Amino acid sequence: MDKDVERVLFSKGKIARRVAALGKEVARRYAGKDLVMVCILKGACVFFADLIRAAKLPAEIDFMSVSSYGAGSESSGSVRILKDVSAPVAGRHVLLVEDIIDTGNSLFALKKLFAERGAASVGICAFLDKKARRRAPVEADIYGFAVEDAFVVGYGLDYAERYRALPYIGVLKREIYEK
Ligand code: IMP
Ligand code: MG
Repeated sequence: MDKDVERVLFSKGKIARRVAALGKEVARRYAGKDLVMVCILKGACVFFADLIRAAKLPAEIDFMSVSSYGAGSESSGSVRILKDVSAPVAGRHVLLVEDIIDTGNSLFALKKLFAERGAASVGICAFLDKKARRRAPVEADIYGFAVEDAFVVGYGLDYAERYRALPYIGVLKREIYEK
């Protein structure tokens, strides 16, 4: 896996320090509130596991899966729900936890969906923010790091379902996704 990575952007240690701070921020914002933390599968699973333990809140956790990239590297603009949450959300605070906001298409659609379901608030916590590629009018309320417009993998993020287990975030070599 490592040989396909051009360079490391965020090391394991740097990620751990940043996630600890994000956890404190989530705890500060949602203290005393009825919170459901929703992990957007699959990419956010590693970040989510770290974040819920860093936040140390009595929040309910749930999981959702929407179709985005498939095996390619471009978002389609529409989201299809592959797996929905089972927690009731009406009147409760929802925090959507994502690996990365890229075009913003998926989070824009999800934010709207949870608002329609009557959530008291819908927040977004993304580990990475690829600001240059935004197309939908949506921003993360809390994010870990801004990233340049490059395809990144590791810490849950994949390319064609690979590289999720890398402990760091790295830029994938172009030759891997352009071949
Ligand atoms: P969006 O709808 O374009 O914002 O896409 C968000 C999803 O695209 C993320 O949850 C990721 O699964 C995927 N994605 C976007 N950029 C990258 C990347 O650089 N590496 C890996 N996955 C990415
Ligand atoms: Mg993905």
